[in-house]
Amino acid sequence: TIPDLAYAESLIAETPDYPEPGVLFRDISPLLADPRAMRATFEALVEPFRGEFDVVGGIEARGFLLAGYVAAVEGVGMLPIRKAGKLPRPAAAVSYALEYGTATIEAPGVLWPGARVLLVDDVLATGGTIAAAREIITQLGATVAGAAVILELDGLGGRAVAGDLHTVFTA
Ligand code: PRP
Ligand code: HPA
Repeated sequence: TIPDLAYAESLIAETPDYPEPGVLFRDISPLLADPRAMRATFEALVEPFRGEFDVVGGIEARGFLLAGYVAAVEGVGMLPIRKAGKLPRPAAAVSYALEYGTATIEAPGVLWPGARVLLVDDVLATGGTIAAAREIITQLGATVAGAAVILELDGLGGRAVAGDLHTVFTA
């Protein structure tokens, strides 16, 4: 419900100058710790995509928290999109720039051709992570059914980079 979502938004914590000077870091840990806030937020995340995806793709690490919930409530499988070096036989790999630093993500070759994948993550900042995850899905021969994040950080240009995106909160 709307009151639950407003309450959930109020639980997102802000820390200035983390992990480096000039970055105002948003942390969803208090939201996750509250069952009412978490349920309202996760339901709002998945709601527009109900019935439109076969697999949920979670981006390590915080995207895993969302993907597990979505997989359980929607009855779909989960694709772990991992930071480089964690998978024994990655079938896809993409490097990208972060708000702070660079990263490479990889995924296992476990999808069938044309599988419809919903991508989920906690925060959209520069959009590089979602864009890279889209490319991963394409490399795997699957299809992106949509992308959803809990919190979009306005002002970093992420939406233009990430492509079509559903967001629960904006800051
Ligand atoms: C954070 C966040 C997103 C990404 C957003 O993850 O969880 O995945 O950055 O940034 P972008 O829009 O600029 O790409 P991070 O890489 O810090 O990893 P973590 O989840 O393992 O902490
Ligand atoms: N919070 C969480 N993840 C992030 C942020 C943030 O403020 N900026 C880039 N990734």
